[in-house]
Amino acid sequence: MDRFTSGWADAWAAQLNKDTQWAESAKSWKWSVLIRIQDQSSWVLDLYKGACRSIRQAEPGESADFILSADAATWNRILDGEQAPMVAIMQGAVKLEKGSILTLGRFAKSATLMLEAAMRVDGPPAETPLPVAVQPVGGDGEAGSAGSEHHVSFRTTSGRGLDHDSLPMQLYQKAKKLGIWDPRNLDMSADRGHWEALTDPERDVLTRLLAMFQAGEEAVTLDLLPLMRALAMDGRLEEEIYLTTFLFEEAKHVEFFQRIFEEVVMLDADLSHFHTPSYKQLFYEELPLAMNRLDTDASSEALIAASVTYNMVVEGTLAETGYQAFYSVLEDRGIMPGVTEGIRLLQRDESRHIAFGVHLISRLINENPNLMGVFQNRMADLMPLAMASITELFACYDPMPFGLKEEDFVQFAMDQFGKRMRRIEQVPTSGQLTSE
Ligand SMILES: [Fe+2]
Ligand SMILES: [Fe+2]
Repeated sequence: MDRFTSGWADAWAAQLNKDTQWAESAKSWKWSVLIRIQDQSSWVLDLYKGACRSIRQAEPGESADFILSADAATWNRILDGEQAPMVAIMQGAVKLEKGSILTLGRFAKSATLMLEAAMRVDGPPAETPLPVAVQPVGGDGEAGSAGSEHHVSFRTTSGRGLDHDSLPMQLYQKAKKLGIWDPRNLDMSADRGHWEALTDPERDVLTRLLAMFQAGEEAVTLDLLPLMRALAMDGRLEEEIYLTTFLFEEAKHVEFFQRIFEEVVMLDADLSHFHTPSYKQLFYEELPLAMNRLDTDASSEALIAASVTYNMVVEGTLAETGYQAFYSVLEDRGIMPGVTEGIRLLQRDESRHIAFGVHLISRLINENPNLMGVFQNRMADLMPLAMASITELFACYDPMPFGLKEEDFVQFAMDQFGKRMRRIEQVPTSGQLTSE
């Protein structure tokens, strides 16, 4: 069926009204949407609380609560499943001419399901081929040594030495200077007094943030090993050398937050009720699944999926947004200086971790440009979860303590997400990789 015709619009509406998953995700959506196909036509989607009342061609000059505009090629890419709608908005390929990005971010899952319903209008999806053939683990020329039961030779005693100019070795040198701060040496003597002076709701939201960070740090500590092993088996000596500092730092971050619970919050209760459904899906399921898959599948695709989950989404989007929340609360009020200093040091460690992720994903895409699709799809899959982890936190409070605004944090997270996305998409597909 031809797209952007009234028959197509009716078929799309029918698909939506059959889709119980979409209905559930859109049950509190109550705004009209206008989709503009530049230089062609505009379509008004009358969506209300999980029902699609109609999809029809817009009258000339007609408006709606949300207006999304892009050229036909972009809409076709989205409808062909080659581009995730929310990612297209963040990249600017689809322009949000009217409406709140915050609301859209909150309904990212619903938007994806809505477009998937439109894709079904074209008939059942063809057997989706993997974006690229699975790449065998190639190593970096150490074949016959790394990954086998015996070492045939060693890099450092074969005249080849270490590549000191490589990004992992540069990060390793930095880590030896900057990553050795000791959580035990932070002066937290004033922090407990400041904590006691907070109101109950203020303490509750900070405890929630801390409980999210603490479980997150524990998760990344537990789940890093498969990546280290996969890279070691591939003979990536410089990358493994850097990762030794990475794991040490994550362990230290667990210790840092534990010290806050022991000496400032002074609470040893079960805090898992602070973990919302999307947070749980990301940290209890997606992260360990993506990382542990590497034990049996160390293909380039699996490595990219793991690094996107760990470095781009957990560290690069959610943790970065979390630091902002701490700074907004603690630094602006000049309270809890020990905790604030620790967060600053921890964020500096994390910037190296994210830089490593950018390096790893860039290296893999540089070796095989077809893997860009794997990167983009994984980012698009996790984006709604990352956003929902933030909006679910805000939904727990009314009013939100400290005057924190949901819109600011969703926007910040989206900016971080878009930044990571663009950084990788600029990867040269041949030649030298640049460092961060
Ligand atoms: Fe960390
Ligand atoms: Fe980290």
